[in-house]
Amino acid sequence: MSKRARYVWVCTKRRPDGNPKGSCAVGGAEALVKELKIAAGKAGVDARVTSSGCFDLCWVGPAVGVMPDMTFFGGMSSEDIPALVEALKRPENVASCPALAGKVVRLEQFEDPHKRREE
Ligand code: FES
Repeated sequence: MSKRARYVWVCTKRRPDGNPKGSCAVGGAEALVKELKIAAGKAGVDARVTSSGCFDLCWVGPAVGVMPDMTFFGGMSSEDIPALVEALKRPENVASCPALAGKVVRLEQFEDPHKRREE
């Protein structure tokens, strides 16, 4: 098995309609991972693109994680694929891609706003 320069996980978790957490699959993640795999393959990107379970970023989904960049994107759609593929071609952290700047998930966004807090 060869090591890839990057690993790209697209959350494809699906929850029932009406679940307050939402889910990435409801936002189109299943099509997104298929399209991203094809686009990355055509571009010759040295990355393994695959689906994953929940990152706990459901409210900003569809969510995409890129390693070893330690970067997560939220609200991803097919329209973001060209920019992401271009970012994956470069050695810089994918978070530095200007076209994706508004999609980068900051650490504080990992807190579930739907979670009940104990006081
Ligand atoms: S359902 Fe995709 S991050 Fe939770």
